[in-house]
Amino acid sequence: MAKALVETIPERGRYLESLTGKSLISSSQLNRDGILQLLRLAARCELDNRKFSCHLNNKILISAFFESSTRTRLSFESAWLRLGGCTVSITDKGTTRIGVGESLRDVAEMVSNYGDCVVLRDSCEDSVKIMSNNLSIPIINAGNGIDEHPTQSLIDLYALLKWNPNLLSGKGRKFSIGLIGAPARMRAARSLLILMSCFPEFFSEVFVLCDEEEQEPFRQAQLSMLQEKGLKIRLTDKVGDILPRLDVVYMNAISLKTMGHRDFGSGYFIDNNSPLKKQAIVLHPLPRMGELDSDLDDTSHNWYFIQAKGGVYVRMALAMAICGRPGEALDII
Ligand code: CP
Repeated sequence: MAKALVETIPERGRYLESLTGKSLISSSQLNRDGILQLLRLAARCELDNRKFSCHLNNKILISAFFESSTRTRLSFESAWLRLGGCTVSITDKGTTRIGVGESLRDVAEMVSNYGDCVVLRDSCEDSVKIMSNNLSIPIINAGNGIDEHPTQSLIDLYALLKWNPNLLSGKGRKFSIGLIGAPARMRAARSLLILMSCFPEFFSEVFVLCDEEEQEPFRQAQLSMLQEKGLKIRLTDKVGDILPRLDVVYMNAISLKTMGHRDFGSGYFIDNNSPLKKQAIVLHPLPRMGELDSDLDDTSHNWYFIQAKGGVYVRMALAMAICGRPGEALDII
C-alpha cells in the first residue's frame, strides 16, 4: 500500500523544503503539492524507516502535552527517536511553572533555548498561537481544544490514499465519505475537511451525519469555504439511510464529554450489524468512546488501526520537513 504511493506521487522536493523552519498550526497552511510530498515521504518511512535513522541527529523535540494523549504524543516522540533525535517531555502543565501562573509567552521564550521544535497540545484553543508568536523555533499543533488537529488530518488522508492509491493517477473511482459528528466542535474532522477540500475530485459525496438538534454543526464560514473549494457536502441525521451508501465512514468520539461533544445516542453507534457496504472502510482518530464496537476490529472494515499506525510515519515526514534537511531524504540524492 505504501509502495503504491511512492510509485504514484512524483517526487518534488522543493515542496518539502518550503516547510523547513515553518510552524504547522492549521491544515489550511498546507497546499496540495506539500501534502502529497509529505505523504510520499511518510510512505518511504513506512517502507524502510531505518534509512532515516540519523536524519534528526542533535535535534531536540520539546513535547508539551497539557492535555492527555495516547497516540499523538507517543507517535511524535517515537518518530523523533526513530530519526535519531532526542525528546524532552512535559506531560502535565502542573509540573511546570504554568501551574503557578507563569505565562505561555515566557515559557515560549524559554523553550526556544532548549530545543529545535515544539509539539503542543492544549485544551485552550489560543495557546498554540500565543506560543507561536513568542517562539524562535517551529511549533506543531497537536490538537488545540476543539479547533484543529492538522497532523491527524494528514494521517487520515494517508490512510485514504493507501486504501485507494489509484485516486492519484486519476484511475481510481471517486468515493463517498460520511463524517459522523459536528465539525464545529471536532478538531480532527475540521482539519480533515480542510485537507479534503484540496482534493475535491476524490469525493463523489461528502455527508456530515449529525443530530438534528445540533444547533451549529459548522463554524461560521466553515461550510461555505469548503463548498467554494468544491466539496459537495450534505448535512443529514439519517444515519441508517446513508450508511449503506458510504465507501468510507469517518467516526469520531462523539460522546467525549471533555471535548464538549454531545452524545448523539445509539443511532450513531456502529458495529458489525450496521448496514455497511461490504467493501466499506471505517476510520476513527481514536480514542473510541463506545460509538465504535470492537466487534469490527477483526473485519475488513477496520482501517482505524492501519490509520493509527500511519501516525509515526506521517510525523517522521513532517519532522524531517520542518526541522531536518529534507533534501537529504529525497530519492534523487
Ligand atoms: N488521535 C488522537 O489525537 O489521539 P490521542 O488523543 O490519543 O493523541
